[in-house]
Amino acid sequence: MIRYGTINDFKIIKKIEKSAFYKFAYGDDEIMYMLLTAQTLIYENDEPEGYLSYYQDADECHIESIAVIPKFKRKGIGSILMKELEKLCVSGNMKRIVLEVREKNTRAIKFYKKLGYEEIKILNDYYTMSYRGSKNAIFMAKNLCPEPGK
Ligand SMILES: CC(C)(COP(=O)(O)OP(=O)(O)OC[C@H]1O[C@@H](n2cnc3c(N)ncnc32)[C@H](O)[C@@H]1OP(=O)(O)O)[C@@H](O)C(=O)NCCC(=O)NCCS
Repeated sequence: MIRYGTINDFKIIKKIEKSAFYKFAYGDDEIMYMLLTAQTLIYENDEPEGYLSYYQDADECHIESIAVIPKFKRKGIGSILMKELEKLCVSGNMKRIVLEVREKNTRAIKFYKKLGYEEIKILNDYYTMSYRGSKNAIFMAKNLCPEPGK
């Protein structure tokens, strides 16, 4: 149900981005750049339902984006993708997972908090486009426990 994405998944990622982020979705160049420089996990059954993109920075994992197609939201798919990422990070000896989220994206903030992420700091004017009157991001992080015996 989860597989790694490749450059051939451009259309799939574009579809998920558009349906989840509307006018805030990544453009074609950004999607292409993300597929070339980051790792992509795609959750799919009969059709693609969600994706998560991440990259490693020293011993940290940085989440680039996560999105679930609206009709598949609140079915646990986002959590499955995040938990798969955690497993990959722990086995890759990473210490922490970090991310930025719009300060007015209260639903995503609730989602991350439920998964154990903490608010670390506000990043003022992080985004170029305003969402609900704000361009600020919240930087969130979750420390990972090493695998037993490591
Ligand atoms: C954020 C997102 C990825 C969550 O994916 P999801 O598959 O719907 O999330 P899950 O079903 O795994 O939800 C897990 C928990 O997170 C919380 N949560 C998720 N969506 C929520 C919402 N809309 N409102 C409040 N809490 C929410 C709930 O506690 C939920 O558990 P519950 O359903 O048992 O109450 C999805 O809503 C999405 O694609 N949003 C648009 C894109 C986006 O904002 N991405 C994040 C950018 S930083």
